[in-house]
Amino acid sequence: MAGGVRATCGGPLARLLILAVLHVNFVALGLEPDFLFPLENVTIAQGRDAMFTCVVNNLGGYRVAWIKADTKAILAIHEHVITNNARLSVTHNDYNTWTLNIRGVKREDRGQYMCQVNTDPMKMQTAFLEVVIPPDIVYEETSGDMMVPEGGSAKLVCKARGFPPPKILWRREDGGDIISRGGPQGKTKVLSLEGEVVNLTKVTRSEMGAYLCIAANGVPPSVSKRIMLHVHFHPLVQVPNQLVGAPTGTDVTLQCHVEASPKAINYWTRENGEMIISNDKYQMGEINSSAYSVQMRLLVRSIQSNDLGGYKCISKNSIGDAEGNIRLYEVELPNRKPKVEDERSSILNEINDVRSSLQGPLREGGPRTAEDAGFLGGAAPHPAPRFTPPSMFLIIALLHAAC
Ligand SMILES: *[C@@H]1O[C@H](CO)[C@@H](O)[C@H](O)[C@H]1NC(C)=O
Ligand SMILES: *[C@@H]1O[C@H](CO)[C@@H](O)[C@H](O)[C@H]1NC(C)=O
Ligand SMILES: *[C@@H]1O[C@H](CO)[C@@H](O)[C@H](O)[C@H]1NC(C)=O
Repeated sequence: MAGGVRATCGGPLARLLILAVLHVNFVALGLEPDFLFPLENVTIAQGRDAMFTCVVNNLGGYRVAWIKADTKAILAIHEHVITNNARLSVTHNDYNTWTLNIRGVKREDRGQYMCQVNTDPMKMQTAFLEVVIPPDIVYEETSGDMMVPEGGSAKLVCKARGFPPPKILWRREDGGDIISRGGPQGKTKVLSLEGEVVNLTKVTRSEMGAYLCIAANGVPPSVSKRIMLHVHFHPLVQVPNQLVGAPTGTDVTLQCHVEASPKAINYWTRENGEMIISNDKYQMGEINSSAYSVQMRLLVRSIQSNDLGGYKCISKNSIGDAEGNIRLYEVELPNRKPKVEDERSSILNEINDVRSSLQGPLREGGPRTAEDAGFLGGAAPHPAPRFTPPSMFLIIALLHAAC
């Protein structure tokens, strides 16, 4: 065998043989090209840059090629990009590392990538490029603000695109329950609901408010849309004290609770329908207690006999109107105390009044001490809480602080 080689030395067959022997030696010494690390899967958001790194030892005279496995397209051989894609490039660290760079990844770049060495048989490794897309609300297919009559139904729809397909979660902005009726379990209350559609049926006023649909697919940022649900209904007036007794000369506050949507116009009249306007005698106020309820207050100062009688609080909106009735009557002051003590307790009550005013405007004008509780209704036996101007609060607060 050795003699044969020598005999044909220099000929083309001999060169081939020598190459074959060298190759066998490489194999025997373990010097075949070899991948040092597996090619790693890459997950990247659309628009970002991706890279695959292929590390080949003992490459010898072989070449490294990058191939898109699904289309079998050869992307690059060594550092030379073959495919017609300006976003691709290959870098080589002059040793054993070959990197395929994909700039500004697009959805169509997704797929299996192969790093291949042209041995026989060829050696290769593959990895997957996943291109993800953060969620985005499809506004054309998503509900806008809605108005439904109370007792009606509302279908809230929220669509989002992205990859993987986003999940839609519904929540109420105020943290309230979403009430789902007509499901398999009948009526259920949940803090959040999953799915593109929320069917609200037999809607009540408590379901009014902002609903948030939140689309998320694990690719930041998540997005949300706020959908206002307005529930319309006829105004409702409730009167906590329909009979209010007070001694003449005192101030008294009349109150009505109103629920209405859309927002109502609220006003007070005397029994004969004469509308009450703010002046030295009367002061009116409204305090919001929720999105659709308001507390109406009417302060009548230093009541006289012509102030006694009927009062109406009236609430009107586009759906209808409602009224509440209050009757103001006179009560005799109980046997009066000696003058000096009276003055002192009156001052104490002034202070209490100021304190209670400072504690918040929602305080009711009803009896406030055990001593006062003998009076009926919302009348105050001593000067009732005044609608003290803010500057007065400040002065009084400063006086308190100074003491
Ligand atoms: C790479 O991604 C492919 C396709 O998604 C998957 O089958 C394979 O298990 C992944 N390999 C690794 C190491 O995560
Ligand atoms: C919502 O109601 C519609 C009919 O109005 C119905 O087709 C749909 O299945 C309902 N969806 C859910 C989630 O209950
Ligand atoms: C009450 O609510 C209405 C509308 O919701 C708002 O315009 C108004 O400013 C609120 N008033 C107070 C005192 O909060």
